[in-house]
Amino acid sequence: MTLAKIAKKLPSEDSLHTLPRPYFNHSVEFKERNSAEKRLEVLKEVGYNVFFFPAGMITGCDFLSDSGTTTMTNKQWAALHLGDESYGSNKGYFLLMEKIREVFGNEFFNEPALGKPNAFIFHQGRPCEDALFSMLGKTGKKLIIPSNGHFDTTEANIHANKIKPLNLFSEEFKSDDSESHFKGNMNIKKLKDLLKKSKNNIPLIYITITNNTGGGQPVSMENIKQVSSIAKDHKIPLFFDACRFAENAWFIKKFEKGYKSKSISKIVKEMFSYVDGFTISFKKDGLVNMGGGLFLRAGGLFIKNYPEIPDALMNHQIIKEGHPTYGGLSGRDIMTLVTGLGTIIQQKYLDHRIRQVRELGEKLVDFGIPMVTPFGGHAVYMDVNKFFEGTNMKPNDFGGISFTAALLGLYGHRACELGYFAFGQYDPKTKKEKHPEVNFVRFAVPRLRYERQDLESTAEAVKNLYENRELLPKVKVAYGRDLPLRHFKARFELH
Ligand code: F0G
Repeated sequence: MTLAKIAKKLPSEDSLHTLPRPYFNHSVEFKERNSAEKRLEVLKEVGYNVFFFPAGMITGCDFLSDSGTTTMTNKQWAALHLGDESYGSNKGYFLLMEKIREVFGNEFFNEPALGKPNAFIFHQGRPCEDALFSMLGKTGKKLIIPSNGHFDTTEANIHANKIKPLNLFSEEFKSDDSESHFKGNMNIKKLKDLLKKSKNNIPLIYITITNNTGGGQPVSMENIKQVSSIAKDHKIPLFFDACRFAENAWFIKKFEKGYKSKSISKIVKEMFSYVDGFTISFKKDGLVNMGGGLFLRAGGLFIKNYPEIPDALMNHQIIKEGHPTYGGLSGRDIMTLVTGLGTIIQQKYLDHRIRQVRELGEKLVDFGIPMVTPFGGHAVYMDVNKFFEGTNMKPNDFGGISFTAALLGLYGHRACELGYFAFGQYDPKTKKEKHPEVNFVRFAVPRLRYERQDLESTAEAVKNLYENRELLPKVKVAYGRDLPLRHFKARFELH
């Protein structure tokens, strides 16, 4: 029998249980070896705040963030050499303009010389948020910005400009039984209720794709369309916080009716056809270590409602970051971004990326660990309250902080508490904690960095902690309990 005939009888290469990665290692870095004893000593010195633990001492996986932690491709490393460091209108700027138009739509990047700026490059996501919200804050009105889930820096930037951020999580997200694939959706009912009361105080509506604060869950095209139509009816601009746009598009293709045969690229274009602007940290789905942008739709509702803002943004950019043709980035950074945006929307990349995250989640669930399901695209989230159910760990003992300290100290893996401590608030007058709706530990998986065995080793370590969860110490906040953004700065004691 010819091999061609045999190929028709045997399982296909794509049906194998274990698929090869769609890339191979181009360059690797060996890690330091050290002991749990040494790590615990250092953890104590840094007050058990995992943000201050030296990354060079991490012997396992670093899941602190998927932001800026991408392993670049060899094409990106090669692109670095093509960087043009001219002060004005470097070569990469024009390539970036072409790429942004190709990926998100022509309307998001006007010809720079024509005097209608609508594309603003920044060094990461939060300066884009600062720029946008400081412009809106100047209007002096009592404003509210609703979202399906604001990220912590977004929320902080909104607050800093005396605007009120509001999270309208979906009912599916809050329900334990729901296996909806789009738990990241905005709560339409709550949005309508809000508009009834306060429509004149809402300068824009934000949708975060995927919903990082809401368990990393994707948002459906249907939800985007619905919010867009409601926003249009009220003449309110709609924006994306688009950090993980490609991962969100993958979920739409996989799970939403009518999108199976559409390419990721087409889906992305459709998603962005509904918005009047977006902020993005390219440190996620830009596949780069640094970069961000704020893009406004030419002729869109935002520019119509606020015709003076684009020029004010340009002034802001020149004062704070650099000439608008490089913004906060070096020419070589721009070149890696142009190349990264080409890779991120490739189906084979996304298939592997999202499968890897899901496999970590599935392994943890197999071990009985309470995880948010279905799994999102960039991270898996552990439910801290359920993890400690039946033990003496109380909400104000901050079990999530204790868990992350134990995982790092005992097993060398770094995860991040995004829950009662990170998002909670302490009132020193009443001595009371205000708990947020969610209490998670997040394992954010860096792009193109780890292999399956790294993730399996993490799951095994978490299992060991779960089986001994009643032994984990309670947390006392030694410093920073009442500070804003306290999780980045606090110090703890474990008792
Ligand atoms: N928006 C979302 C949804 C984010 O996840 C982040 C960053 C930002 C905005 C801010 O971007 O870091 O470039 O200034 N998220 C990282 C994380 C830090 O770990 O989730 P940035």
